[in-house]
This record gives sequence, structure tokens and C-alpha cells, in this order.
Amino acid sequence: MPTHDVNVAVIYYSATGTIAELARLIADAAEHAGADVRLRRTAELAPQSAIDANPAWAANTTATADILEATHEDMLWADAVVFGSPTRFGNVTSQLKQFIDTLGGLWQQGRLADKVYSGFTASATAHGGQESTLLALYHSVHHFGGILVAPGYTDPAKFTDGNPYGTSHVGGPDTPVDANARTAARIQAERVVKLTKAIKAGLSPAS
Ligand SMILES: Cc1cc2nc3c(=O)[nH]c(=O)nc-3n(C[C@H](O)[C@H](O)[C@H](O)COP(=O)(O)O)c2cc1C
Repeated sequence: MPTHDVNVAVIYYSATGTIAELARLIADAAEHAGADVRLRRTAELAPQSAIDANPAWAANTTATADILEATHEDMLWADAVVFGSPTRFGNVTSQLKQFIDTLGGLWQQGRLADKVYSGFTASATAHGGQESTLLALYHSVHHFGGILVAPGYTDPAKFTDGNPYGTSHVGGPDTPVDANARTAARIQAERVVKLTKAIKAGLSPAS
């Protein structure tokens, strides 16, 4: 039963649905762990013709049309933000980065600081840039003055999925998110909620 004492925003970009599925898993697990959760996607920047030419991309666009686009208010609301992006040549997608790049005003006011941040990713190939994507994402967290909560090897299952930087899945639209990635998503969400609760309580004037 959620205690609703921490707010977690899961903010992602997904073209062909893999990251969208991981985002839902992380959002559900965070809620199960007692957080209020907002699941948000970043705006599409690609031309409609590119989306229409790829059936998996078009299907995911339709399937996630009801998910609200991320806003600055979501960032202000959140005690923890979990960002998700597929690998694009070992880097974060322009669509997620574009949202991050609009946050300069909040950064200038110091309103991105002291929140928990974490990230997740997917790639088509086994060594296709998952770690570099998450590390690139985490550059911005340092500039925010954020508190990076990576999963590390804090659970025995992390030795099976093997990515201490964040949840990741190897595979495109034809490779369903597997049990390893599902477990990793749960572990990461639970860790984010646990540490966000502790940090929030520690920073509270009443503590
Ligand atoms: C432009 C582009 C670049 C990509 N670069 C990489 C890459 O560097 N390494 C890799 O393994 N997969 C790469 N991929 C594949 C995606 O990261 C992978 O299919 C991912 O699971 C897609 O996530 P999504 O279904 O949420 O869009 C690339 C895909 C595209 C379209």
C-alpha cells in the first residue's frame, strides 16, 4: 500500500517500445514500494514520415499516446527522477536530451538540486553502449546538484544482469524485455524509493 510520502517521476523517450516497457515496470515497482509516481514521456522530434516507415515505432507511438508529456512541473513535483533512454550510438537520444536541455531555468534557480536521480537504457547489441549512455545521462545529474542513486551490485541479482549503472535490456522491438531486466527494474525502483525516503526525511526541518 503506497504511503505517498515520496514523489517519483519516470521520464523517458522510447521509439520502438522497449524503454516504454521498462519505464512502466519501474513506475509500477516504485508505486508498489510506496511512492506516488508520474510516468511521463518526452516529446517526439522525428518527422512523422520516419515514424510511419517503421511499424514498431508507429505502434509504440499509438500505444503510448495517452501518456502525458513531461513538463517542468513534473521535475519540481518529483523528489526522485528516473530517466530512460535507448542507446543512440552510445549516447542519450536527442528527444530525452532536448527535455533536459530545457531545464536551464530550473537549474539556475537551484530547483533541480537535492533530488535523487537514476537512469535506465536499452541497446540492440550486448556491448552496444549501455554504460556510456547511462554515464552520459549522469553528467547532467552532477550539474543539477542531484543525488545519483545507481543500483550498483546491491542485490545478488545484479550479478546476473551485470549492469551496476542502471537497468538495461539488450534487444530491439523483436526481443521482449526479459526476466533479468524485469528484476533489475524492480531492484532499481525499490532502491530509488528507499533512498529518496531516507534523504527526504533527513533533509526535513522536523528531523
Ligand atoms: C539511430 C539509432 C542508433 C542506435 N545506436 C545503437 C548503438 O549504438 N548500439 C546498440 O546496441 N543499439 C543501438 N540502437 C538500437 C536501439 O538502442 C535499441 O533497439 C533500443 O532497444 C531501442 O529502444 P526503444 O525500443 O525504446 O526505442 C540504435 C538505434 C537507432 C535508431
